[in-house]
Amino acid sequence: MMERIEIFDTTLRDGEQSPGATMTPSEKLRVARALDDLGVDVVEAGFPISSPDDFLAVRKVARELRRPTVAALARTTSGDVLRAAEALEEAARPRIHTFIATSPIHLAQKLKISENECVDRAANAVTEARRYVDDVEFSAEDATRTPLEFLMKVVSAAVEAGATVINLPDTVGYAYPDEIRRMVTTLRKAIPELRDVTLSIHCHDDLGLATANTLAALEAGVRQVECTVNGIGERAGNTALEEVVMALLVRQDLSNLRTRVQTNRIYPTSQLLSRVTGIYPQPNKAIVGKNAFAHEAGIHQDGMLKERTTYEIMDPQVVGVPRSRLVLGKHSGHHALEARYKDLGHELTKEDLERAYRLFKLLADQKKAILDEDLLAILHHGAFKEVPRHFRLEGLEVTCGGKWSTARVAIRTDDGPPRSATARGDGPIAAAFTALTELVGKDIEMEDMTIRTMTPGSDSVGEVFLQVRVGDRSFSGTAASTDVVDAVVRACLHALSKGQRAVEMEAQALDTAGELWGV
Ligand code: KIV
Ligand code: ZN
Repeated sequence: MMERIEIFDTTLRDGEQSPGATMTPSEKLRVARALDDLGVDVVEAGFPISSPDDFLAVRKVARELRRPTVAALARTTSGDVLRAAEALEEAARPRIHTFIATSPIHLAQKLKISENECVDRAANAVTEARRYVDDVEFSAEDATRTPLEFLMKVVSAAVEAGATVINLPDTVGYAYPDEIRRMVTTLRKAIPELRDVTLSIHCHDDLGLATANTLAALEAGVRQVECTVNGIGERAGNTALEEVVMALLVRQDLSNLRTRVQTNRIYPTSQLLSRVTGIYPQPNKAIVGKNAFAHEAGIHQDGMLKERTTYEIMDPQVVGVPRSRLVLGKHSGHHALEARYKDLGHELTKEDLERAYRLFKLLADQKKAILDEDLLAILHHGAFKEVPRHFRLEGLEVTCGGKWSTARVAIRTDDGPPRSATARGDGPIAAAFTALTELVGKDIEMEDMTIRTMTPGSDSVGEVFLQVRVGDRSFSGTAASTDVVDAVVRACLHALSKGQRAVEMEAQALDTAGELWGV
């Protein structure tokens, strides 16, 4: 008989710990909605004590998502647990996820506590969390480098204290599948009470074994899988959601385990996440990479033409890769646009469609053929109602000529008249940055920048992701335009607006410190 396993998605928490993947609360909410549509069972929305923005993100997600469980992370301290409980106050299905490291190296070097202290902290945090919510997950961080005997002790204490889920992380991506199997089997045998809780696995991909280890844990009896879209996460990342879901589906002959994931939402969700974070999976990434369904060799193409299954183990459409690349143009109407968006997996509201249509018309004036990628860029960069941006571009004029390049940049802010500045620099981007520095009165240093062309051709839309340092902080921004200098300046203003917002949020947090931090 078929058995459903739980998909615990931690894209918004562990995934966000990928370098450069930081998301604003509204970006997290957008991804959370996509995860809801994808059909995951649990959305881990953040680590509320870590920053005011993360607290707000968890609160927003908890307020809006009704079907999935919403989880918030907490260390085993009262402050963390309380903060997680506050962020989850309005959740339909709240879960506090508390964790402490259990391996000898973490106990001795990081926490500097004894094994007994570790057991006490774990049990106390679970007991405390249970006062706020009925659903409490306990994770033994670095479980795979923890002697099994001690792991049993901590896990038993957490279960006794009321944990409803026990999670076993391979925090540093160190384990082999056989070791994972042994760990799960041993614990299940030694602790009969585990029958009444959900046993969970959480793997990292440092040795490229995260999916294999997750499947091994499922074979041994875990029934919750922690994973992220595109496998983003700390260092080499976490188990990729799409890999586990599709492995179970494609190899139905090997197991009776299934998920509730709507597989045709996998690719659109992966694309949305990439656009929001600016991190695209490598081209050969399983399931969601650009080349995952591309057949280059002649022999393969010949086979595919004769019979698709000669070289394809899954139909790309099953994971939501659009069947065709339809071309729209200047004369395409609302209906054609709406239908194409639907095919691409996006049902737009009337308002969003109207906004998308206006941008589509503007783009069609600059570019003959509008391809799917252009439509997705429109959707991401303009069609949705965004958080109000503090800095907006009013005008940009540049001349290029090596170090004699100039830029005149005009911006508007919410709280003043439009202003402009002109500057010279080595290339138009350097000149524009100098002008922006003058306009905002702060040094802006470019830390990283990627420009992607959305489609082939010299009239392609360029999508820019950049990271800038303002003072001692880094912010990321993104924008798209047929003119890449324009896109770079807009992306920089996006980053500066995020910076402005962070400053306002922190001021607010200080104003209400008592209420917000419980001191
Ligand atoms: O990798 C890890 O150990 C974690 C825990 C907080 C679950 O992410
Ligand atoms: Zn992790």
